[in-house]
Parts: sequence; C-alpha cells; structure tokens
Amino acid sequence: MGVNLRGRNFLKLLDFTPAEIRYLLDLSKNFKDLKRTGTPHRYLEGKNIVLLFEKTSTRTRCSFEVAGMDLGMGVTYLDPGSSQMGKKESIADTARVLGRMYDGIEYRGFSQDLVTELADYAGIPVWNGLTDQFHPTQMLADLLTIEEKLGHLKGVNFVYMGDARNNMGNSLMVACAKMGLNFTACAPKALWPAEDLVKECKKIAKENDCTVTLTEDVKKGTKNADVIYTDIWVSMGEPDSVWADRIKILKPYQVNKEVMKNAKDTAIFMHCLPSFHDTKTTIGADIAKKFKIKEMEVTDEVFESKQSVVFDEAENRMHTIKAVMYATLK
Ligand code: CP
Ligand code: NVA
Repeated sequence: MGVNLRGRNFLKLLDFTPAEIRYLLDLSKNFKDLKRTGTPHRYLEGKNIVLLFEKTSTRTRCSFEVAGMDLGMGVTYLDPGSSQMGKKESIADTARVLGRMYDGIEYRGFSQDLVTELADYAGIPVWNGLTDQFHPTQMLADLLTIEEKLGHLKGVNFVYMGDARNNMGNSLMVACAKMGLNFTACAPKALWPAEDLVKECKKIAKENDCTVTLTEDVKKGTKNADVIYTDIWVSMGEPDSVWADRIKILKPYQVNKEVMKNAKDTAIFMHCLPSFHDTKTTIGADIAKKFKIKEMEVTDEVFESKQSVVFDEAENRMHTIKAVMYATLK
C-alpha cells in the first residue's frame, strides 16, 4: 500500500511506521537532487507556514525557512519575545488563531505536551522542531546521512555517547529501533533513557531485527561501532548549575581518538550540533575558565577529522525538513 502523510503532524518518530520513515527518506533524496541540480520545486506555492521558537536555533530555523521558500511558501518567524503565546494567550487559543491563517506550524520549545496540545487544536499539520523529549526532524537528517555514508541502515552498529536521556538520546534510540540499526547508549546509568521508553524501543527493535543496549562500559560499548554519535552535555533550558556534575560524570564518555580507534576503521562521527569541541564560543570559553576543560563531548581532533560527517548531517536537515513539509502539506 502506498504511503500518504497528507494532513499528518510530525511530533515524534514513534508515531510513524518504518515504511513511512522510508518514504520520507526517499523523498528527501529527491529533494536533495533537485536542489543540487538547481531544478525549481515550488510545489507548495500559495501556502504559508509559521515558525514558533521558544529556544534558540541555527540549523532548524534556517532549514525550515529555506525549505519553505524553496517550496514556494510564505514563511513567518516568531521568536519567544514577539508573540502572545503562553504569556497573554493560551496554547489552545494560539493554535486556533494560527490554524485559521497558516497551512503548517513549526514549534520548538520545552515540553512535548505543549507541541501535542498545539497540534490538537491547530487543525493543520504541526512539526516538532525540538522539545526536551524529542527532536524528530533531526532524526531524518541523521538517518539520511548514515545511509549516504555507509550505504545502508539495517544492521548498522550505532553508538550514542553522553547524555542518553535527553531529546537526542531518546530520539536516536527510537529512530534506530524503527529502522533496524543496533542502538547502544554508552553513558553513566544516571543518564540512561527512561525505562518505559527503553522497553518500548526494545519491543520495536525486536520487530525490526535489531537491538537496544545500554552500557556504562566505553570499551565494550564502542567496539565494532559503525557510527559514534554524541551531543552537548547540558541541553537548552537546563540551569548552569548542572555543568559541574555533568562534566564530572560525562568526561569518561568524551568522543576522542581512543574511542574512534576502538570503533571500526570505517566508522563515522556524528553530532547534531552545535558542539563544544573548542573554546571559540562564549560558553566554551567560560567553561574552560571555570572547569579547566577545553573540549567537552568531542575533541577538536575528532570533530575536524575525516571521519566526521557533521556538516553533511547539518545540510541534510534542510532536505529532510523539506520532505516532511511537502509530504504533510501537498
Ligand atoms: N541540531 C539542531 O537542532 O541545531 P539548532 O539548535 O541550531 O537548530
Ligand atoms: N540536546 C540539545 C540538542 C540541540 C540540537 C539541546 O536540547 O540543547
């Protein structure tokens, strides 16, 4: 049976079948070809979208804006300070107003419940541009990148190192289980994903002939890895007071030369970005001064190495977000 995602929300990958995810990846490849060959694809001319950001962004915002414009749509961007949402107007009321004017809504913010409420009331597709719990558009870009670099998804040994219970850890575990990659979270127990989500992912993984493993052992966890993935140690919205403890418990899980050597020779390094791999950012410099650590989740050497595919991954955000908007709005 053909896949039809018209009118659907894109809130988390758990809501999608492997066939639907496959369809979005194939569509992304088509859009990438069109973009690369300079072929116009203004398929959604006359439609309008609104982007609501309650947290900062470079990749997600720019991907939605460029993808929307490439598809011929009008795009409105609202930052946290410039709408009534949450302060003077409830989520439900905001959703019903925006639903009368726009054809699709992107939302980046804090709780998954909030983006779900927005979708419940808007009457038009809502796309999750990151919540504390999930980051589903990032997943499509990551899967597309792995497939481009390694030639396949099924059977890939995927290792996520660091804060495994944040939006990236959760989402990658789901994405791997859905698409047949063996997922390993290599992290301190205190930062493992919630038990109910692990249980659900193990069940999904079984259906798709792959595995979900949680380990604290870096040597064992990264052995034979095809992909080593990490994310920042303190996520947006978390207080600065957690830095000291995070650095202490996550330092052993830093992606460095030894970790990459322990993986397969052909292994790639991935990161959703932004990354603290040097001190060229205000936060990076501040942390270096306070905690005497110049590189955090990944060393500069690995970040800049040939194995690193982080900028291809970032580019793929745009092609995959375009696919999601086209599939749900066409
Ligand atoms: N990876 C990602 O979502 O980046 P931004 O925070 O810049 O959107
Ligand atoms: N875990 C990170 C992901 C950024 C794309 C954060 O939420 O800040």
